[in-house]
This record gives sequence, structure tokens and C-alpha cells, in this order.
Amino acid sequence: MSVINIDEARMQVDRKGFLDIAVDPAIDLFAEIERLKKEKNAVLLAHYYQEADIQDAADFIGDSLGLAQEAERTKADIIVFAGVHFMAETAKILNPRKKVLLPDLNAGCSLADSAPAELFRTFREEHPDHLVISYINCTAEIKALSDIICTSSNAEKIIESLPEEQKIIFAPDKNLGAYLNKKTGRDMLLWNGSCIVHEIFSVKKITELKIRHPLAKFIAHPECEEPVLRMADFIGSTTALLKYTKTSPAKEFIVGTESGILHQMIISSPEKIFIPAPPETNCACNDCPYMKLNTLEKLYLCMEYETPEIKMSDELLERSRKPIEKMLEISRRYNL
Ligand code: 13P
Ligand code: SF4
Repeated sequence: MSVINIDEARMQVDRKGFLDIAVDPAIDLFAEIERLKKEKNAVLLAHYYQEADIQDAADFIGDSLGLAQEAERTKADIIVFAGVHFMAETAKILNPRKKVLLPDLNAGCSLADSAPAELFRTFREEHPDHLVISYINCTAEIKALSDIICTSSNAEKIIESLPEEQKIIFAPDKNLGAYLNKKTGRDMLLWNGSCIVHEIFSVKKITELKIRHPLAKFIAHPECEEPVLRMADFIGSTTALLKYTKTSPAKEFIVGTESGILHQMIISSPEKIFIPAPPETNCACNDCPYMKLNTLEKLYLCMEYETPEIKMSDELLERSRKPIEKMLEISRRYNL
């Protein structure tokens, strides 16, 4: 590895959002990452949509709720977050005194981008009698403007914990919001955001696949559009989808979510067949371009130099903590 000093490293991160240093291909990155974890008392948390090598190096792999819960309970001094920015930000909000590292600060999220804070603040002010439930896929500013945060694992329970007559704004995912309206019978006001990965699945191609694989179960994430969800045999968060493939007697699954999850599905059930649900065009659009910005090299470099780091003002940390804590408290109540 070409060595640079810490000031140069920070300047590079300020410029690019990640460390762009050539790593000697002869280095055993898995061994180096293990060494750095021990030396620095660091824990590596990874989302299921990360590339397979990163999942293999992680101490904990989970969905957004599992990762937030793990971040809340960790005793490590440094949290290395292999996921996207809003996830690392959530870990920082729950651990304001700890260092939280993200291999590439450009790892954003189309859902988080779809809700700019100023527009959302105005929207909220226009509906003063509504409570705001925000999907965790949003910025800390949006979290600070929300009453409760939810994930796809606990959203239903969180909505049901509120009185039926309570008016609710749900942001930023209109597809998840519409799915939850249908499931809970509520009429939540939906913000018009969506996930670029979950919006591209093709009903026509999934139908063709189902004809070719008549015994396959089609499983989908609730960020998918309604016509796709209508075809699904099972709908759930990434953790719920993985659990379903482990426990279902079916031998074939068409998987309607980001392709990274297939790695754990194959590890858990090597005898089963997993087919990624096809997108409209022949692009690789069921790879999240943000999640896939993280690489094993960037992960190693960020642990070595302890940068890029998630930085937030004390004021924003304070304002955004309460709605996340509320989510964790309700999740504990329901053993989620
Ligand atoms: P979950 O892993 O919580 O189901 O979320 C999926 C997702 O799109 C994360 O960005
Ligand atoms: Fe955001 Fe969708 Fe990527 Fe998840 S998969 S990080 S929701 S863009």
C-alpha cells in the first residue's frame, strides 16, 4: 500500500468522500481487517446488500432494524458500518461519543434523497394534526422532524401502536407506505419517495419466470411497487425474506430485492435455488449502486486510517435521537 499521512488522508476524504489509495493485491485483506478489529476494538456491521466479501468479513449482518439494535448494544470503541450513509448516521446517533466509520461517504440512498429537509418541514407544518412516522431510510434531518422511526421489520407494529383515529404522515417511501396502508387499514398521508432498486422489477418478466418455475415462491421486499407485491407469495424485510427461505419447504425462490441478499440465502440453504427477480431492462439495476460503492479495499483503508468518519453537530444528534429511541422501545415491547 502506498502510505500517506493522516492529514493527506483526511484531505482526500474531504475531496472524494473515500480513500483512493492503491492497495497491494498481495495483502490478505480479510486477515488485515481482523487484525484492525482487534487492535482498535472495532466492530464491523454489514447490511445484506453489501458485496459477498464484505458480508464474509462482518461481525454482524442484518436488516436496518437488526443493525440499529446491534449498534445500540455494541461495546466496541469503533463502529465500522458497511452499508449506506443513513445507516451509519443512525449508529452515530445511538453512539454520539463513538467513532463511526463508513468506507465511502458517497454511499447514499435514493429514498433519503427524495425527502429534502426544507420541503418536508413545510409539508409537516401544513398538517399540524398529523404524527410523522419516517422509514429509517432518511437523513438525520428528516429523523429530527419525525415522531417515530420505523423499518420494514417493525412498521406495522409501530403504526398499530398508535390510536386508530390518529392521523399519520408516512415518509419517504410511497410504496412501503401504500403497502402498510393496505395491511393496517389506515389512510396515512404518503410522501412521494421511492427506491430506485425496488422500482425496477418487471411484472411481465416475473410472470414469465413463474411460468418457467411453477414451484418457485416469489418473495419481495415491501419497497417494491404494488403490482409486483400483488404477485408475491411472501413480503418482508431482508431478514424476514432470508428467514422465509430457510424455513419454507419450497426448493426454488424468485427474489424481489437487491441481489446482495442472495449470498446469505445460498449460505443458509445451499441445496435450494435462488433466482434474482429480473428488472425491466437487461441492466444490473437490482444491484444498489450506493450499497455497492463499498469495497473490501475501501473498508480496509477506512479502518487503517479511521476515516471517513460520520460527523454530525451535537444539536442534530440530540434532535434525531428521540424518534429512533422510540422505535427501539416499541420494538423491544413486541420482541422484534
Ligand atoms: P431492510 O434490510 O431493513 O429490509 O431494508 C432494505 C433496504 O432497502 C435498505 O436500504
Ligand atoms: Fe436506498 Fe434502495 Fe439502495 Fe436501500 S436499496 S440503500 S432503499 S437505494
